[in-house]
Amino acid sequence: MSMTDQPLRADRDPAGLTLWVTGGAGFIGSNFIHRHIAAHSETRFIVVDCLTYAGNPANLAGVDDLPNFAFRRLDIGDAAAVDAAADEDRPDWIIHFAAESHVDRSIHGPAAFVRTNVVGTFNLLETARRLWGQAGGHFHHVSTDEVYGSLGDSGLFYETTPYDPSSPYSATKAASDHLVRAHHRTYGLPVTITNCSNNYGPRHYPEKLIPLMILNCLNRKPLPVYGQGLNVRDWLFVDDHCDAIWEVACRGRIGETYNIGGDCELRNIDVLHRLIRVVAEETNAAVSKLEDLITFVPDRPGHDLRYAMDFSKLHHELGWSPKETFESGLRKTVQWYLANPEWVADIQSGEYRNWVDRQYGGRVKP
Ligand code: NAD
Ligand code: TYD
Repeated sequence: MSMTDQPLRADRDPAGLTLWVTGGAGFIGSNFIHRHIAAHSETRFIVVDCLTYAGNPANLAGVDDLPNFAFRRLDIGDAAAVDAAADEDRPDWIIHFAAESHVDRSIHGPAAFVRTNVVGTFNLLETARRLWGQAGGHFHHVSTDEVYGSLGDSGLFYETTPYDPSSPYSATKAASDHLVRAHHRTYGLPVTITNCSNNYGPRHYPEKLIPLMILNCLNRKPLPVYGQGLNVRDWLFVDDHCDAIWEVACRGRIGETYNIGGDCELRNIDVLHRLIRVVAEETNAAVSKLEDLITFVPDRPGHDLRYAMDFSKLHHELGWSPKETFESGLRKTVQWYLANPEWVADIQSGEYRNWVDRQYGGRVKP
């Protein structure tokens, strides 16, 4: 049977199965656990994470005491360790979030991106192939719209758009997507892939645009906008992404790729104006005082102009569409950061300060 002959809605039931959720202590992976673990008490969720600067056990507070939760500290770049751990856990599915995920860091130090995103993904695929053989198993690979490169003022990314990555981050994610597809076509490994647009929401490490700007507003620090702030991203609330991944993992067609997007294209400067208004409302601050913090800084090298996703395949096959509006999602996000000062204080120490000094030290005065 060819791939296109396969039936739509190929349901896979995770009840009674063990899932490895790699990168489950990071932003999206931890939200995925929060979103799905309680409703699937017959599924065992094992978070596999080596806890880099972006991995935070506090992201799993409130779910880590559930009987169907377990944590395994493991570096996916270590092939022998991945193999040994898989022999112990015998995962039935692997939902693969683990990655180095920040474009600016990939410009400063691309090697870690090759090791985790390319070699780490390869190690997991090889382990899955050995563990599952031709029977059973499912590998869901979480990827990004950035593999498609940059759009001009018009047009959308489709699943068929040729890959054209610009940064070491997107190049290594592109390589990982190719390896996942190759393992399906060559070895018959049962895989699905999703490529998603920019996420935002609770537990987002504040190196990325939205959480950085929320915290800098709260701390009355400069809001560093790269270039003129005219670059466009397609924003999606993280819970919507987590729901889409669940749908594709359970019901997506094997071997297929699904785009996920927010239908929410905004220029960075407009994101900032909206964010400032929400922060001002939530904290009784003056909008003008926060607007004064906006600081234009030198642009990111190789900065992609615009991303925009066509997600009609996912919508038509699996009925998914985003539920949260940018307004409601942003408000929930700001409220989460206000309600979690300990999480914020913890994050803003140590490694985070080093990163901020390195990235913004020469660009804006603290
Ligand atoms: P994140 O940086 O917040 O989290 C990454 C997690 O992976 C961390 O917990 C980290 O400790 C772990 N990790 C890193 N290297 C590892 C290694 N060698 N071994 C084991 N664990 C390791 O990233 P995120 O924003 O949650 O992104 C998750 C996935 O979603 C990534 O694959 C990313 O490419 C993809 N994605 C992200 C977005 C976005 O807007 N954040 C959008 C589309 C796709
Ligand atoms: P980011 O959150 O790093 O996500 P990505 O680069 O993966 O899209 O950045 C989102 C947009 O915001 C991107 O166009 C770069 C821009 N940006 C700034 O203008 N200032 C900043 O301090 C950061 C971190 C990003």
